Parts: sequence; structure tokens; C-alpha cells
Amino acid sequence: MITCSAPGKVYLFGEHAVVYGESAICCAVELRTRVHVEKNDDVIIESSLGTTGPDIKVHPYVTHAIEMIKSLTDLKGVRLKIESDLPVGSGLGSSAAVTVASIQALNHLYNCGLSREDVAKNAHKIEMIVQGNASATDTYVSTMGGVVMMPQRKKLPLLKCPVIIGNTKEFSSTKELVGNVANLRSEFPSVIDPILSNIGQMSMLAEGLIIKNDYMAIGKLMNVNQGLLDAIGVGSSKLWDLVYAARNCGAICAKITGAGGGGCIVAIAEHKDTKGIAKAIEDAGGEAIITKNTEEGVRLESFNG
Ligand code: PMV
Repeated sequence: MITCSAPGKVYLFGEHAVVYGESAICCAVELRTRVHVEKNDDVIIESSLGTTGPDIKVHPYVTHAIEMIKSLTDLKGVRLKIESDLPVGSGLGSSAAVTVASIQALNHLYNCGLSREDVAKNAHKIEMIVQGNASATDTYVSTMGGVVMMPQRKKLPLLKCPVIIGNTKEFSSTKELVGNVANLRSEFPSVIDPILSNIGQMSMLAEGLIIKNDYMAIGKLMNVNQGLLDAIGVGSSKLWDLVYAARNCGAICAKITGAGGGGCIVAIAEHKDTKGIAKAIEDAGGEAIITKNTEEGVRLESFNG
């Protein structure tokens, strides 16, 4: 049996704007999806969503990953089991992580010789098939790890502070939210385009601030980014509750991460404030996760036989 894992991610800057070619900064976090694979007579996929054969309704990403590997090698059957620290549909890149970890595990099991670049590219293709439109951000960051500026694919230094996530526990559909932003943009291009471009500008400024470890300035810009995400219609009252709960308890900043509408917020903070912020998020009805960014992308966890 072979096990590979891949991390989830948070957006420090630039979700939605990156769909229109603007810059974004995203970082891999130490919350991982693990995929165990072994050769088998049939295809069996096991996860918290159930046990199925190839099934594009229940396990679309994994089913496409198996199809992709089938096009490279003689894959007849495989047993694939998924375990994840990442809540599904919450802006933490769970779909990218499961796709990347599945491709890499199958790549090792069948000696397909795919490089990490190939894994990232194929995972992005699968996200495009399943979601209709997806930037390469999630799949690239889950494969390569680290803090990454997109679409330039430029690695930046890790943040040396804790990352706190607040989950509203409300499911959000990335496809629907990306569609809503597209509609608003076609109705009011002269209003929405400058907002998206402004978000891209913040990512460009933040690049230098991350290199200088200037968390106060990064935080100010992340809070501005939050305001602009709300302006393009991807906020919600629950998200704002968690944003203010975190900010009022000492977070340097707090904003939506990912598509919005529900899902999660991300806050950065000094070590001494993390527990208080997590408690404030829980008191406001959210689920708090204290984590950190990580340089490690997809990795081989174990290889038995
Ligand atoms: O919520 P997530 O993790 O699916 O992130 C969506 C990020 C968007 O910029 C809104 C879409 C994309 O494909 O980049």
C-alpha cells in the first residue's frame, strides 16, 4: 500500500481576482488529505462520503484522477481510501488536495514517472472538468507547498506567525460564487474591474511586505481585501461575525479565504493571542482551527510492498 498526502491552503490575498488574471498570494497549511492506494481487482473508492466504484457524482475528483492514470498505464483495479483534515467545500482547497494526493499516490503505485509539475497540471485539468472554471492556484499550491504568488508561481518566504481559520460550517459552492462575480462584472464592468485590479495591486504590494516580515502592514491590506470581497458580493453575515470576532480579540487581520458565501475566514496573529482568538471564533458560532503555513506540498507518507 502507498500513502500520499497533500495540504490544503488559505488565500492571504486575491481570490476571485485571480480568476481574471490578477495576482494572488496563497499559502499551503498543515491540514492534509491522505490517500492510501493498493492494486485490486475492481476500482473501489472509500471516503467519509461513502464507498463507491468510479462515480463522478460522489467522488468526481478521484474518479477523474483514476481515469487520467488509466490513460498512462494498464490500471485495471485499485482500492483507494481518503482521510482528510480538511472540511469539504469550505474554501480550504479540499478538492485540490484530494486530487493532487490521489494522482501522486497512483503515480507512485504504477510508476508513471509524472513530475510534480505534471501532477499540478493534471490536477488543475481535473478541477476544470469538475468545476467548469478554476484557477490553477489550489492545485499548484497543494502540489508545491509554501507561500506562492499566482499566476506567476513565485515562491515567497513562509509567514512566521500562526494562521487561525474560522469555519462558518456553511457549505459554499465555488462554481456558484465565481458565476455570481462574473454576472456582477458583466453588469457593471466599470465598477467591478477596478475592484479586481485593486485586489491584484494588494498582492503585488504584499509580496515585499512578506519578504520583510511586516505583518502589521500585511494585516492592514488583508483587511482592505476583506472589504473588497464583500463589495463583490461574496461575504455573508456569518463570515463577518467570525471576521469581527477574530479582529476584536487581537487578530492582526481577518478575511474570507476562498470563494466565500460560507466556508472559512483566515486570521493571522501573534502567538500569544491565538487561543483567545480561537475561543472568540467558537463563541461566535464558528469552528476554530489553529494551524501554520508549510513549505511541504504533496508528499509520499509510506510505501509498503
Ligand atoms: O473556495 P476555494 O478553495 O474553492 O477557492 C476559490 C478561489 C477562487 O479564486 C474564487 C476561484 C479560483 O478558481 O481561483
